Amino acid sequence: MAKPLRIGLIGSKFMGRAHSNAWGQANRFFDLPRDVVLDTVAARDAETLGPFATQWDWEGWTTRWQDLVEDEAIDLVDVGTPNDLHAEQALAALAAGKHVACEKPLAGTLDDARAMQRAAAKSKGKTFVWFNYRRCPALALAWQLVREGRLGRIHHVRAHYLQSWGGPDMPMTWRFQKKRAGSGAHGDLNAHIVDLARFLTGDEITEVHGAVTRTFVKERVIEGGGGTRKGGAGGKSGGGKGAGGTQRAAGRTGRSDVDDAALFLASFKGGAVASFEASRVASGHLNRNVIELNGEGGSLRFDFEQMNDLWFHDEALGERTGGWRRIVATSAAGKHPYVENWWPDAHGLGYEHGFVNMAADIVRAVAGRKPTLPLPDFADAYETQRVLEAALIAAKERRAVKLSEVR
Ligand SMILES: NC(=O)c1ccc[n+]([C@@H]2O[C@H](COP(=O)([O-])OP(=O)(O)OC[C@H]3O[C@@H](n4cnc5c(N)ncnc54)[C@H](O)[C@@H]3O)[C@@H](O)[C@H]2O)c1
Repeated sequence: MAKPLRIGLIGSKFMGRAHSNAWGQANRFFDLPRDVVLDTVAARDAETLGPFATQWDWEGWTTRWQDLVEDEAIDLVDVGTPNDLHAEQALAALAAGKHVACEKPLAGTLDDARAMQRAAAKSKGKTFVWFNYRRCPALALAWQLVREGRLGRIHHVRAHYLQSWGGPDMPMTWRFQKKRAGSGAHGDLNAHIVDLARFLTGDEITEVHGAVTRTFVKERVIEGGGGTRKGGAGGKSGGGKGAGGTQRAAGRTGRSDVDDAALFLASFKGGAVASFEASRVASGHLNRNVIELNGEGGSLRFDFEQMNDLWFHDEALGERTGGWRRIVATSAAGKHPYVENWWPDAHGLGYEHGFVNMAADIVRAVAGRKPTLPLPDFADAYETQRVLEAALIAAKERRAVKLSEVR
């Protein structure tokens, strides 16, 4: 067995938990070329960090993320912090010769993303971006079916990612501040579906034809800002919706200057047309990450709220027996990607498994082995960021934007 892969994680909240779980589970469920060691976790809150480290089996913790970068024993720095910190932390880790796994979107701004992509191109460390949905078995199967030509030439990509936690009761967090997040639902949710569209089709978007962004909730309560909150959401970050009261909080508010919804139309180099829609105020939709591909030979549809299913229409079956069929994409170990590493057939998987599957593939890639499916690196995520930027320009300037304009 090669020497262990020692991980340093920055961030201990939503993604901190998802990544801690993923690194901790990878060797338990996958036969990997290196053992993963949860070396040190860094985050800001010293009071909660100790118990967090104990709960998730981290050997140590620190409130200085620079400690991870400076620690020669750490091989990979995992960045799970707000978007405005990705560049600084990833660049420092790459400069220290580490591998870096960074959360999505690659950065809050295209300038940061470009700097990261350039640094990655020159670094000896490998880079990864946590586009975790690629590794849901149903989407991994979709990727395989497209590669096998089961859809033929693709005409349409139709994707939406709808959530509803961003209503007026949700207090101010970094996610509602442009200087910290870059954008709102757009960078948060469209980032995922643009990545999926590029990943599944293997094609690149060449033009955004038009876009609209909208901020519905312009003021949000600042927790600890001098007022009292009654009812309302519990202030959980990352999409959790709290008790949902009707009374509004009193007290100091701050301006929310990111989009709550962002929609755009685009076309691919290969000729396919695409629509993307993201919202954090789409009531009734909790985590509806949906992508559909329509091709000459058939169609595929995925909805994360039924994440173990892949819907497939095969034109070859003809009018009489054709139509949409539900494939339980966790039902055939050895034939459905990742499934042999988990439970008996059709014993469904959940959100966290995408992260574990990805952690396992990262370990393989770092060890020079082939991952199950292509992993997004900084260069790949930069292409997604260019599409996001083109849509923001299209919305602001009310015009079509060619990707060649956005470098
Ligand atoms: N892949 C996904 O599906 C997914 C889901 C949610 C969030 N994300 C991404 O993950 C990242 C983090 O999101 P989150 O929801 O976990 O945020 P969060 O607010 O829940 O947690 C942020 C963490 O960063 C830490 N942090 C902030 N500033 C820091 C600093 N200066 N030094 C060290 N630590 C610092 C905080 O202490 C906290 O632990 C974002 O980029 C977000 O877009 C991805």
